[in-house]
Amino acid sequence: MDATQGILHGKVIVITGAASGIGRASALMFARQGAAIVACDRDAAVSAVADAITGNGGQAVSMTMDAGSEADVIAAVDAAVAGFGGLDGYFANAGISGGPSGGYFDATTELWAEVLRINVIGPALAVKHAVPAFLKRGGGSIVVTASVAGLRAGAGPAPYSASKAAAINLVQTAAQAVAGTGIRVNGICPGLSETGMTSRLYAMARAAGQEANLGIRNPLRRGSAPEEIASAALFLFSDMSSFVNGEALVVDGGLASSHPYSEMADKQKLALIDDLRARMTEQHAAG
Ligand SMILES: NC(=O)c1ccc[n+]([C@@H]2O[C@H](COP(=O)([O-])OP(=O)(O)OC[C@H]3O[C@@H](n4cnc5c(N)ncnc54)[C@H](O)[C@@H]3O)[C@@H](O)[C@H]2O)c1
Repeated sequence: MDATQGILHGKVIVITGAASGIGRASALMFARQGAAIVACDRDAAVSAVADAITGNGGQAVSMTMDAGSEADVIAAVDAAVAGFGGLDGYFANAGISGGPSGGYFDATTELWAEVLRINVIGPALAVKHAVPAFLKRGGGSIVVTASVAGLRAGAGPAPYSASKAAAINLVQTAAQAVAGTGIRVNGICPGLSETGMTSRLYAMARAAGQEANLGIRNPLRRGSAPEEIASAALFLFSDMSSFVNGEALVVDGGLASSHPYSEMADKQKLALIDDLRARMTEQHAAG
């Protein structure tokens, strides 16, 4: 499509964690929608994402940086202003899970500190340093990638879960802190998505012939593609969400809409749907 017709046309957006997964999908999608992108990641492979955008006629620069470092967050904002004349959006998306185990009793103080530094302090620094740049434009949008792990237990290690709960709260406090400025702060809470973070899980499930069980607990019965998360972020950066603020948008296929249920209840639900389908087919056949 013609990027000048895109819903982000004219906007300049910093994206952290842009080398892979949700951040990469967002960078490519936002650029197609007309945004100029500052693609940031601690992985130097992020330059390939900026190259893909510019190779396709879009606008992007890349930066190798640490999303939890104040100096690097300032540098990312400065790169947007120097490269594209200002800043309209900051997608504080970079995050780490803190490893596959991480029960309460294994997690070290160092692990807790690193997970909180990247997943919570990173987004807090984004708010601190993006807001002054937004004020020069009369508004802006910050989106923080939280997680369903921040809503309740059971979707990740304890430090990760606690960090994502903090990220959701940060969205609320930040939205209040910038009251009256026209700046919006929102979060997204993805459920399972196939990205670098979950690649081992997907590989293990595939190797065991269990792929169909990935995402089985949500009513769509599947995990998501990173583009399905990116499109929720796209909405939050666009003017289509102009009255959405202080919100953590859950994008999880419906997982968080239910308490846990038994396998028996699941079978009963499936039997009812089968029954409904049969009745619909009968009605259709009867004319
Ligand atoms: N994949 C899922 O199922 C899922 C679910 C809920 C939330 N999330 C969240 O989505 C966000 C994006 O993760 P993803 O799933 O796309 O995983 P991913 O591993 O594919 O991408 C994360 C990117 O962030 C980068 N990164 C990590 N720490 C960084 C730092 N300090 N500075 C700069 N870059 C850094 C990594 O190099 C990587 O490129 C994370 O915040 C994650 O917690 C993912």
